[in-house]
Amino acid sequence: MTELHLWLRHEARTTERRTPIVPDDARRLVGNGVELTVEESPQRVFPTGAYEAAGCRVAPAGSWVSAPPDAVVLGLKELPDEPAELTHRHVFFGHAYKGQPGAAALLRRFTAGGGTLYDLEYLVDDTGRRLAAFGFWAGYLGAALAVLQHRGRLRAPLTPTTKEELDGVLEPAPGDEEFTGLVVGALGRSGRGARAAFAAAGTDPTCWDLAETRDLDRPALLRHDVMVNCVLATSPVPPFVREQDLDDPGRRLRTLCDVTCDVGSPLNVLPVYDETTDWDAPARRLRDAPPLDLIAIDNLPSLLPLESSTDFSAALLPHLLDFGVSGPWGHCLDRFRRAVDAHGVDRGV
Ligand SMILES: NC(=O)c1ccc[n+]([C@@H]2O[C@H](COP(=O)([O-])OP(=O)(O)OC[C@H]3O[C@@H](n4cnc5c(N)ncnc54)[C@H](O)[C@@H]3O)[C@@H](O)[C@H]2O)c1
Repeated sequence: MTELHLWLRHEARTTERRTPIVPDDARRLVGNGVELTVEESPQRVFPTGAYEAAGCRVAPAGSWVSAPPDAVVLGLKELPDEPAELTHRHVFFGHAYKGQPGAAALLRRFTAGGGTLYDLEYLVDDTGRRLAAFGFWAGYLGAALAVLQHRGRLRAPLTPTTKEELDGVLEPAPGDEEFTGLVVGALGRSGRGARAAFAAAGTDPTCWDLAETRDLDRPALLRHDVMVNCVLATSPVPPFVREQDLDDPGRRLRTLCDVTCDVGSPLNVLPVYDETTDWDAPARRLRDAPPLDLIAIDNLPSLLPLESSTDFSAALLPHLLDFGVSGPWGHCLDRFRRAVDAHGVDRGV
């Protein structure tokens, strides 16, 4: 059997402190005969020394470009713009199959170099269920930020924190008014996270999923103070909130958090804004009287890098130990080949 050589790269994005493999799981990989090289990374939430102590070899940031050809390069977010030709097998979230900006260019880099993208979004079982995802913490943060905004205690810019710290500020303080929360998509990963954050904030939210939105009761939706949208829409449905609903005299809704962030997509269930918010300016006022604030941040789990990395790594570990061309990795490979074919470029796999 060929020994697997994994190469954990430094993330190019400076605010990205998460990692797909935490030191404890690195030790498990090494213990199972995997060769693991870890690039130095100033912002990664775990120190490089912890990986070294786990038996990993350390390499300079960005040195994956000259890694041995058989190394599998592992990361989370986008690759740097260079080199133009990608020769390795890469495991990360490529965001390259839904016509996203830069998608075709990324696929061209793979085909030019003969490399392969194993996109983590398509690491699924035979029923199509995602095997490693950050959804829970996205929902947790989405609801937590919405509650803080509603209580007038959201401070910008946002910076990465820990769950312990976050729960400390979420706890209701004397004088905090009671409010009603609504989670839509409540049965999914981020929906469960949102429910947990509402619980930490001392509120038991209304929970809606497919059954409750089939015949949508918009007036009931608008009677909640805080709404967190966590749906994963796969086909267009009538919007949950429309522009005219913002001026509905019966609206109690004051804070709307869109964890889904499908802005601009035909699947968007909240077509009341056209730009996401970010860590520097997390909330945007959509209406003044009565007020309505929007939070739509598309990299929420990065705000809890330790907890989200630990959970993600635990979910990914068994699949890394089983890295290959069949099973879940076969689904990734298949999706890559179809994308390459759809773009009409020669593929090198
Ligand atoms: N903002 C961020 O940083 C961030 C991070 C991770 C994920 N996300 C996004 O969050 C969304 C949810 O992810 P997830 O992992 O929780 O997905 P999931 O598949 O675990 O859950 C989605 C839930 O939505 C429900 N749903 C689908 N259509 C619905 C409808 N019309 N009405 C009511 N419920 C409906 C499903 O039944 C399911 O329970 C995805 O779009 C994902 O891309 C955002």
